[in-house]
Amino acid sequence: MKGKAEVIIGAQWGDEGKGRIVDALADRVEVVVRYQGGANAGHTVIVEGEKHVFHLLPSGMLYPGKTCVIGNGVVVDPDQFLSEIGELRERRKDKARLVISESAHVVMPYHKIIDEAEEKRRSKGRKIGTTKRGIGPCYADKVNRIGIRVGDLLAADTLREKVIENLEIKNLLLTRIFNEAPIPFEEQMEKALAWGQQMSPYIGDGAAIVNDALDKGRGVLFEGAQGTLLDVDHGTYPFVTSSSASAGGACIGSGVGPTRIDRVLGVAKAYCTRVGEGPFPTEELGAVGERLREAGGEYGATTGRPRRCGWLDMVALRYAVRVNGLGGIALTKLDVLTGLDRLQVCTGYECEGKLYDILPPRLPGAENLVLHYETLPGWSEDLSGCRKIEELPVAARNYVQFIEEKCGVPVVLIGVGSGREQTILSGL
Ligand code: GDP
Ligand code: IMO
Ligand code: MG
Repeated sequence: MKGKAEVIIGAQWGDEGKGRIVDALADRVEVVVRYQGGANAGHTVIVEGEKHVFHLLPSGMLYPGKTCVIGNGVVVDPDQFLSEIGELRERRKDKARLVISESAHVVMPYHKIIDEAEEKRRSKGRKIGTTKRGIGPCYADKVNRIGIRVGDLLAADTLREKVIENLEIKNLLLTRIFNEAPIPFEEQMEKALAWGQQMSPYIGDGAAIVNDALDKGRGVLFEGAQGTLLDVDHGTYPFVTSSSASAGGACIGSGVGPTRIDRVLGVAKAYCTRVGEGPFPTEELGAVGERLREAGGEYGATTGRPRRCGWLDMVALRYAVRVNGLGGIALTKLDVLTGLDRLQVCTGYECEGKLYDILPPRLPGAENLVLHYETLPGWSEDLSGCRKIEELPVAARNYVQFIEEKCGVPVVLIGVGSGREQTILSGL
C-alpha cells in the first residue's frame, strides 16, 4: 500500500465486503480504526474456513500485534460489545489490542426500544427498515448534547446525573407516546456501572493512538461501516443511517485531521444490493435478482434479512467516486457473476428528458426514471482460484476494465471468493 493512512469505505448501499478487504489489508498496518456506525454493521471475515462477523469490533482483530480502535464517532452498545469480545476470546481469536475511545457514545436500552417503536409508527412508504440497533436515537441524543459517553460509565456521579436527565424524558416518551414500559432508574444505573467495570480495561484515548501511530510513520486503516448511499448527508435521505458513512466521517469519527489521509479506497460489489427500504434504481425483482441473491449468499450479516439485488449501477458508483474522492476501487464478488450469459450495467439515468451519468442531488421516484443499460458478455469459468488478473477470463477482465473506464479510477483489488486469500491485487 502506498498510503500510510487509508480509508476503506462502502461505495454502494453497505455490505460490499468492507470487512474482508480490511482483513486482507490489515497485515500491512499497525492500527485499524472503526469510526462511525455501531452494531448495525455486520462485517464478515473468513479465514481458513472459519467465519467471523464483526459488528462493533474492527475487522483487524484477528491479527496479533495490531491495535484496533473503536473511535469516538462510533455508537457502542455495551452488551453487544461485551458479547462480541467474549465470543472472540472463547475462540482464542482476540489477537489484537483493543481500545474504545472514551468519547464514543453509548447505545442505551431505551435507544433500541425507541428505534423499534419509531419504525413501527412510520406509515407505509416512510419506513426505513432499520436494524433496530438503536442507532438513530443514539446519534440524535449525541447531536442534542444529552448523550452518555463511554467515559461517563467510569464516573458514577456524572453517570447518575446523566441517566436521571435522560430517563426523565425517555420514560415520558416510552410510556406516553409509544405505549412501552418505563425503564426503572436503579436497574439502569446498576447496569451502566457494571458495563463501566467490564469495559474499563479497553477504554482509552482513541485519537491519541491513531495520531501517534501516524506520527511514527506506521500505517492506519480506517474501516467504514454502511455505505456512501446510506450516509446521512450524501445518501438517499431519509432512507439512510444516522452517521457519516462516506470518507469524510473517518476524520471526525477518529480525531485525525484531513491532511493526514493518504488515500480512500471504495469497496464495491460487481453488482448491487440493498437491505432495508429506500430507492434502489437497478433492483431486479425477478429471476436475475433471485439468481444474484442465491449465488452471492445475499442475506444480512446482522439481521439475516434477504438483501435486495440488482445490476451494477455506474451512476451511483461515479457519485461515490466524487463524494469520497476515491483513489481506487476494491471490486468484490466478481465470482458471483460466473454463469450469467449477459451482464447489464446501468450507465445513465434519464429523468424528464435530462440524462444523468452521476446521481442527481434528489433522486426522482422510480416511475419517473428511465435507466440506460449497456450489456456486456458474461463468462462461465470458475474464478475462485484466480490470483492474478491475467488468470481471469477475457470477459471478466473486460468487465473490470469497463468499470475503470466508466468511473475513472483504477480497480486495485478484486475479490473472487470470500476467503482471505481469494483476492487479486492488481494495483496495490
Ligand atoms: P461488509 O458489511 O461490507 O463487510 O460486507 P458483509 O460481510 O455484510 O457482506 C459481504 C458478504 O460477501 C460476506 O458474506 C462475505 O463473506 C462475502 N464476500 C466478500 N467478498 C467476496 C467475494 O469476493 N466473493 C464472494 N463470493 N463472497 C464475498
Ligand atoms: P455494513 O457495515 C447494509 C441500513 C438498514 C436500513 C438503514 C438504516 O454491514 O455494510 P440503521 O439501523 O442504521 O438506522 O438502519 O441502513 N443499514 C445497512 N445496510 N449494511 C449495513 O452495514 C447497514 N447498516 C445499516 O438496513 O435500511
Ligand atoms: Mg455488512
